[in-house]
Amino acid sequence: MRYNVRSMKGRDLLTLSNFTREEIKEILKLASEMKYLLKSGKYVIPYLNGKSIFLLFQKPSTRTRLSFEVAIHQLGGFPIYINWNELQIIRGESLEDTVRAINAYCDAIVARVYKHSDLETIADISRIPVINALSDLAHPCQALADCLTIIEKKGKIEDINVVFIGDGNNNVCRSLSEAVLKLGGNMIIVSPKKYQIDPSYAEFIKKNAYKNSSLILTDNPIEGVKEADVIYTDVWISMGQESESEERMREFKKYQVNSELLSFAPNDVIIMHCLPAHRGLEITDDVIDGKNSVVWDQAENRLHVQKAILTLLV
Ligand code: CP
Ligand code: NVA
Repeated sequence: MRYNVRSMKGRDLLTLSNFTREEIKEILKLASEMKYLLKSGKYVIPYLNGKSIFLLFQKPSTRTRLSFEVAIHQLGGFPIYINWNELQIIRGESLEDTVRAINAYCDAIVARVYKHSDLETIADISRIPVINALSDLAHPCQALADCLTIIEKKGKIEDINVVFIGDGNNNVCRSLSEAVLKLGGNMIIVSPKKYQIDPSYAEFIKKNAYKNSSLILTDNPIEGVKEADVIYTDVWISMGQESESEERMREFKKYQVNSELLSFAPNDVIIMHCLPAHRGLEITDDVIDGKNSVVWDQAENRLHVQKAILTLLV
């Protein structure tokens, strides 16, 4: 079976900003088809046959690395993972020259970096597609899997109220907000004022929002969850922010997703977390393991979405 996909070949995926609503929907549709084919044991075209995909990681990863490696295998390609610290970069080779070398052998780069500007440097030099596997500013592949999960669980994303509780300006919340608004959902970000989403970025994603989508910012968790269809949380201290731990632990203490907070939300609310979770901090065991939690379906969807991204871009 051939997929009916519009080609996005050769494009980079650094953020969702240069992907239209239609293109995002196309990625999700293909992911959903690929999920169905995998589950029903049907034949999948090896779209990456003969292709080598370089996975360049500066930070730890479980899901992103694994889902990309498995996705590449399932599409008939060859994944090459090298940690940043094992490259000649640590002996002084420039990032630019490293990218030139990767371009000599590989067909795409999947990169997880601290600084988003490094990702932009990689993309500037590279003639092969570059996919963001998480930077300080964005986690677009995660947001796509999140939207697929919301559509599966709620039947749609338009008019759905997605409430993010935690660090409103972190990579996960920024990309999720951009995706939800583009797809017609409403985003409510519950965060201490100091950690709210960057105002200029909020303006930017509001400009690209679909029809009546709204972005609401509040620092009141109970108000925030009252009409929630989805409650989403993430760690309070993202990778690279360890030096701010003490202050963040203090500031986010009141922003835990626990059963008391859940009692203010509708009964059919779903609980999401990009994972890894710090159980007992941003979310309690009973909530993440409870009947409303969809975190493992959400994690599984990373695989199906990575396959769709690779098929369309590479
Ligand atoms: N959600 C996510 O990106 O997980 P990893 O850090 O394990 O890849
Ligand atoms: N915001 C988290 C996401 C981890 C997947 C971080 O950057 O560490």
